[in-house]
This record gives sequence, structure tokens and C-alpha cells, in this order.
Amino acid sequence: MKTLSNKAFDAVTQLFHNVSGIRLNESKHALVTGRLQRLATEAGETDLESYVDKLLRGGAPAQEMTRLVDRLTTNETYFFREPQHFNDLADRLDALAPGQDFKVWSAASSSGEEAYSVAMLMSDRLGPGTGPAPWQIVGTDLSTAMVESARRGLYPTDRARLVPPAYLKRFCLKGQGEQTGQVLMSRELRSRVRFEAGNLMQPLPDDLPMFDVIFLRNVLIYFDNDAKAGIVRRVLGRLKPDGVLYTGHAESLSNLNLPVRAVGTAVHGHA
Ligand SMILES: C[S@@+](CC[C@H](N)C(=O)[O-])C[C@H]1O[C@@H](n2cnc3c(N)ncnc32)[C@H](O)[C@@H]1O
Repeated sequence: MKTLSNKAFDAVTQLFHNVSGIRLNESKHALVTGRLQRLATEAGETDLESYVDKLLRGGAPAQEMTRLVDRLTTNETYFFREPQHFNDLADRLDALAPGQDFKVWSAASSSGEEAYSVAMLMSDRLGPGTGPAPWQIVGTDLSTAMVESARRGLYPTDRARLVPPAYLKRFCLKGQGEQTGQVLMSRELRSRVRFEAGNLMQPLPDDLPMFDVIFLRNVLIYFDNDAKAGIVRRVLGRLKPDGVLYTGHAESLSNLNLPVRAVGTAVHGHA
């Protein structure tokens, strides 16, 4: 496979940085080359450099930029990842007064497993959410391909192995026919979770409500400190005064000079 020249690598990663805020360093050269090569082939372009050239000169169709962002983001996720947060959430749900409304945001929701895990827990603890205790979950992600995949709520069966058996039985429908080997999130869950495209580097949409809990996990690691601090400040603007923010256990908010206080491990509240 032809390797991307250093100049082209720098230009493409700069373009990606302008859109996503994520800096891909030289250690990702081979990965970026592979992903671009695949994009070029799919676009019917045999020569990698000329595909990149078109992209950089704005000569490629607009949706090619979306495809580039989709391919260069890291979307790894799984159901009930970092279970301590789900235990913490369960305690908060159990402490709610009857009929109290509750909103959760999965910021950087990738293919939706995090938001659906929350939905299973909330449906279990609060009921279906259509009655006296309304609840709502919003998932947002930069990658439109991930947003579409999350809306479908269809996963290979082995991806659901970390779903507790009782939840699997109750909320995950076994695919049949064309969907054999996959599980589909129940209609009830899909109706309670809304997925939208959203870039955490930009001002947040006006219609995003205030949340009781925000999951901002395994995404801050991709940003430098300035971008990280900017994202957290923006996100905190949508956290209710007594709400909590969950970050990935490998992601620290210390040294960023943010108006937060730790209320648990990787659990933060307003300062
Ligand atoms: C590794 S996944 C984390 C998914 C999930 N939160 C979890 O912990 O399993 C990171 C996600 O962040 C998204 N992302 C990257 N940059 C973003 C940005 N600027 N705004 C919104 N989402 C972004 C990626 O598309 C990707 O789906």
C-alpha cells in the first residue's frame, strides 16, 4: 500500500482537527493512510494522493468531508462500560421522589450502547417513562454515521454480552430473518432515546435541555487541555445545579482550572 506523504498527512490531519478539535499525531500515520485509502477506493479514485489533493482543494463532494470525519473518529464503545457509573446512576434513580422527571445526556454517544444501557436501567427503575415519572435520554455524536447506527439500535449479538441477562431478555429483541445474529433494542427503549449529530467543539444547540446526569466519557482523551476545558465548560452549561457529570476513568479534570468538584471517582458536580 502506498504511504501518504508527510505533507499530505499534515494537511489532512489539520483539516480533521479544524472540524473535530482532535489532533492525530505522527503515530497515526499508517492508520490514517489505511482509512484514506479505503475512502479513496470507495469514491472510485485509484490514486491516493490525487484523492487527498481533491479533498484538500475542496474539489471533492461535500459529503466526502463527512465520510472523512466518520472514518477518522475512534468509536469504540460497549454496553455498561465502566459499570461504576451505572451503579452510581442506579442509586440516584432510587433516591428520586415519585414523579420527578429525569434527563440524561450521552455526549459522544458513538453507536448508542451507552445511551441504551442508561435507558435499560431507567426503564427498570422508573418504569417506561410515559407515566407519572417522565424520563428522557439524548445521545449526540460528531459522526453522522454513528448517529444513524445508534438510531437503528441494531447490534451483533456478541456486542450485547455485557448486558445483564434479565435486561437482555427484557429489552433486546432477537433478530430474525435478515437480522439473524443481531439484537434490536426494544421499541420502548428506542422511543425514549433521541440521537442527534452534535459537535462538542461548537456552541451547543438551543433545544438541548438541562440534564440531571451527563455522560462525557472516553472522548476527552482525544483533545489537548484547552479544547478539553472548553468542552467541559460548554457541557457544564447544560448540567442542572445538583446534577453530575461522568467522565471516563482514564480522564482527569484536574489541572484544567474548571468550576467542578469531585463527588466520586470520575463523578463531578458544579463547584
Ligand atoms: C471512543 S467513543 C466513546 C463512546 C462512549 N462515550 C463510551 O464511553 O463508550 C468517542 C466518540 O466521540 C466522538 N467525538 C469525537 N470528537 C467529537 C466532537 N468534537 N464532538 C462530538 N463527538 C465527538 C467520536 O465520534 C466517537 O464516537
